[in-house]
Amino acid sequence: MFSTKIAVVCLLHVIVAVSCDDPVKPVWSEKYLINGMIHYPDTEIKEFFDMWYDSSRNASRIDFYGGSVKYYQLGNGNGVQYKIVPVTTEEVLNERTCFQIDGTAQNPIGPQAMFPNMDELEYRGLKVNQMGKQAECYETEKEIMGTNHKYTLWVNRDAQNNAVPVYYELAGHNTLMPPGPTDVVDIVYFKYTPVTDIPADVFNVSNEGLKCKPYPGPASHKVHAFNPVADIIHPQKTEHVEARFKEFVNTHGKQYESDDEHSFRKLLFRRNVRYIEAVNRQNKSYTLGVNHLADRTDEEMQVLRGRISSDEVDNEGLPFPYENPEAIIVPDEHDWRLYGAVTSMKDQAHCSSCWAFGVIAALEGAYFLKTGELKILSEQAVMDCAWGFGNNGCHGGSPKGAYQWIKKHNGVPATDEYGKYLGENANCRADLSNNTNLYCYRNLKFHL
Ligand SMILES: *[C@@H]1O[C@H](CO)[C@@H](O)[C@H](O)[C@H]1NC(C)=O
Ligand SMILES: *[C@@H]1O[C@H](CO)[C@@H](O)[C@H](O)[C@H]1NC(C)=O
Ligand SMILES: *[C@@H]1O[C@H](CO)[C@@H](O)[C@H](O)[C@H]1NC(C)=O
Ligand SMILES: *[C@@H]1O[C@H](CO)[C@@H](O)[C@H](O)[C@H]1NC(C)=O
Repeated sequence: MFSTKIAVVCLLHVIVAVSCDDPVKPVWSEKYLINGMIHYPDTEIKEFFDMWYDSSRNASRIDFYGGSVKYYQLGNGNGVQYKIVPVTTEEVLNERTCFQIDGTAQNPIGPQAMFPNMDELEYRGLKVNQMGKQAECYETEKEIMGTNHKYTLWVNRDAQNNAVPVYYELAGHNTLMPPGPTDVVDIVYFKYTPVTDIPADVFNVSNEGLKCKPYPGPASHKVHAFNPVADIIHPQKTEHVEARFKEFVNTHGKQYESDDEHSFRKLLFRRNVRYIEAVNRQNKSYTLGVNHLADRTDEEMQVLRGRISSDEVDNEGLPFPYENPEAIIVPDEHDWRLYGAVTSMKDQAHCSSCWAFGVIAALEGAYFLKTGELKILSEQAVMDCAWGFGNNGCHGGSPKGAYQWIKKHNGVPATDEYGKYLGENANCRADLSNNTNLYCYRNLKFHL
C-alpha cells in the first residue's frame, strides 16, 4: 500500500516534467555571433551592436555602431577588459584610444553573454512581444535593489527546431512609488549565428595597433563604462550602481524621505546613467555627464519645461528683413560664445521658467551685438512682472508674452540691478529706468 502511493507520486512528477506542451528550453551555443539593437524606450537611442561570444576562450567582444566603439571582455586569469573609443582633447580630434581595466580576485572579468541565464527563466507559453510578434516566452522575476525586475526573452524556432532569440526585455517596476515601470530596456536580436570556431583575431586587441592605458575615471564608473550589457542581461551586475549612486547622493547632498523613495531614486538614477553612457557612445560633438537631476522621473523633468505653446500662428515678431535669402552664405556653424555674445550657463532649478531663459539669452546676445557690452539680464524680473501677458511665472509662459512685456516697459533690468534668480515666484520689483530698450523682436527663419 505504502509503496504504491510513492510510485504514484513519482509517476505524477515525471508526467509534469515532460509535459508535451512545453518546448525544449533553448540551449545557446558555446560560440556565436549575434547582431541587433539595444533600445531605450522613451529616448531616441537605438544602439546597433555586433557581438562575438566564445566561452571556450572565455572571451566576448561587443562593437557598437559598426565598430566606432568596441568593448573586449577577456576572461583568462582574473580577466581584463578593453574599451576602444574616439577621444577628443585640446590636442587631438577623435583619436582612437584604448583603455584597459584588469580584473581582480574579488572582481574577476569573464565573457559577457547577450542572453539571460536560461536556468532561471521559465516557459510562459506563446506570447506577443513589443514588436507584435508571437513567440515562445521565457521569464523570471527578481527583487533587486528594492525593486521588482522582470527579465523576458522571446524565442522562435528555425526549420530544425533550433531556438532563435528574437527579443529581450528588462523591466524594473517599483510598485511602492508610482507611476509604473521605471526602468525599461529592450534588445532586438537581428541575426544569431552559432559557429564552431571564431578566429582568434577577433579577440586580439593588439590588432587595434594601440597602446592601452588604464581607465582614468573612478572605480565606481568602470562597469557602466566598460560593459554596458552587464547592466541589462540577467543576471545583472548591480554593485557598480550602488557605488555610483552613493557617490551621487553624497555629491549632491540628496536626502530621501524613506527607504522606498531611496530605492525608487536609485532605479531612476541607473536608468539615467545608462542613457548618459549610451549617448556618450554615439560619437557626438558633445558628451553628457551626471548632474543633480539624474534621479528625477520624466514627469518631474517635465515640470521644468514650462513653455506654453499657443496655437496662434502670429507671435507678433517682425519678419526678418531678408533681401535675397538664397544669396546669403550661411556658415556651417557659428559659435557666438567665441565672440563674447553669450553669458555663462544658468540653471532654472525647480521652476518652469524656460520661456524666460530663452528670451533673456536672445536679448543678452542682441544687446551685446548692439553695444559691445555683455550684460547679465534678469529672468526673474520677467517671471515676476510679466503675468499680464499670459505668463505664469514658475508655472510656464511663452516667449511672445515675455517679449511683449519687455517691449511695453522698454526693457528688462540686469540681474545686478534686480537681484539674483530665485527659482520661485516673487514680487515684481522692476524699476525700469535702466533698460535694454527692446524696440522689436523678429522671427528668424533658417534657410538650409
Ligand atoms: C566621429 O565623428 C567625427 C566627426 O563627426 C568623425 O570625423 C569620426 O570619423 C567619427 N569617428 C568614428 C570612430 O566614427
Ligand atoms: C576560462 O575560465 C575558467 C573559469 O575561470 C577557467 O577554468 C578556464 O581555464 C578558462 N579557460 C581559458 C581558455 O582560459
Ligand atoms: C595578436 O595580434 C598581434 C599583432 O596584430 C600578433 O603579433 C599576435 O601574434 C596576435 N596574438 C594572437 C594570440 O593571435
Ligand atoms: C542706471 O545705471 C547706472 C549704472 O549701471 C547707475 O549709475 C544709475 O544710477 C542707474 N540709474 C537709475 C535711475 O537707476
